Amino acid sequence: MRVLVIGSGAREHALCVALRADPAVDSLVCAPGNAGTDTVAEAKPVDVSDPNAIADLAVAAAVDLVVIGPELPLVVGAADAVRAKGIACFGPSASAARLEGSKDFAKAVMASAAVPTAESRTCGGTADIAAALDLFGPPYVVKDDGLAAGKGVVVTPDRGLAEAHAESVVGTGRTVVVEEFLAGPEVSLFAVTDGVTIVPLLPAQDFKRIGDGDTGPNTGGMGAYCPLPWLPRGFVDDVVARVLRPTVEEMAGRGTPYAGLLYAGLVLTAVGIRVIEFNARFGDPETQVVLALLDSPLAGLLYAAATGTLDEHPPLRWTGKSAVTVVVAADGYPGSPRTGDEVRGSRGEGILHAGTRRGADGQVLVVGGRVLSVTATGSDLAVARASAYQRVSTVDFAGMRFRTDIAAAAVRGDVTASG
Ligand code: AMP
Ligand code: GLY
Repeated sequence: MRVLVIGSGAREHALCVALRADPAVDSLVCAPGNAGTDTVAEAKPVDVSDPNAIADLAVAAAVDLVVIGPELPLVVGAADAVRAKGIACFGPSASAARLEGSKDFAKAVMASAAVPTAESRTCGGTADIAAALDLFGPPYVVKDDGLAAGKGVVVTPDRGLAEAHAESVVGTGRTVVVEEFLAGPEVSLFAVTDGVTIVPLLPAQDFKRIGDGDTGPNTGGMGAYCPLPWLPRGFVDDVVARVLRPTVEEMAGRGTPYAGLLYAGLVLTAVGIRVIEFNARFGDPETQVVLALLDSPLAGLLYAAATGTLDEHPPLRWTGKSAVTVVVAADGYPGSPRTGDEVRGSRGEGILHAGTRRGADGQVLVVGGRVLSVTATGSDLAVARASAYQRVSTVDFAGMRFRTDIAAAAVRGDVTASG
């Protein structure tokens, strides 16, 4: 099988590494990729916001399967364009990807399907924003309705900050979702689905804030670990029954079946599981840890989802180990990252690339905010964590930043499912 992976982050590097390890894959292309993916896949340029360019590349590269990493191409219809060329594609249609592309749409689907989520109000102006902030009270949760690269959500006790974020979103002509604050540990659960059969992967946890101790602004994600030793037994079955299955059935019932990766962002509150968001793709950085533990061949799984044959796929096998990834970011991230510096030590084991590009002399240069996702596995979480940080100590670039507490609370046994 010849596979094309679309995207340029550490998630795509992890997808390429896992696809490469599948004996059914004899060649791999990644577009546009980065200085890490080009060591495991042929690199091709592509504009990821252009569905026709992606479909044309799939045809020109004569691939059997396209795997779309990021949300933007999905939301603008890249999976539809690829399928229209008769090529199998792992990723939902534009109509189904609205589950991520519009928070208001996701709320409506959850309401119809009786999926537990935070109470919310969708607002378009100053008066209804103020009324919603009054209704839910602090801490305030204010979300851009549309795609915002992981930076559209502000959670703050400061009314002024909440209002300012809401006004800045409304000022761009979009609506705002204001919702009740949910307290408790967060879990990311990914499921592969063909629109009927649902295959959950292992739950993982992401660290969204830039600073140690969950301080500072939200980012795309600063680290992750998997599995979660503190989860209650039956958690995954519960999420499938109460969240994933009703959502997949609701989408099918609306005539927009959801096939691809359905990512449920969940909070375990004192009163049970609540959905904070759906994403229409693999999460970053959780994918780096989840795929590091998957023993089953990845291409076969994604191809089965893309071709509606997931019911025939054998049960997934996992290594039984633990995995930790630590994101190494550029100074200034999540604001304006410092770019152009050379990255040293970026070819080591488990070092997945994100915002990197190869310079004229073959050196690796920083071109984005999240630069590397340094990943390791181990017999337990403590071993995996120590190994990931040891690997981080082998990379170096000017102004590099990373959190020092990824998976620390879980290793200490300080995370409990009741929050
Ligand atoms: P989202 O992009 O919707 O996942 O939100 C980004 C992050 O903001 C989440 O991972 C949470 O850490 C936080 N967040 C979002 N919604 C809520 C909520 N209702 N209550 C508490 N935290 C939230
Ligand atoms: N890990 C957060 C995301 O992928 O949206």
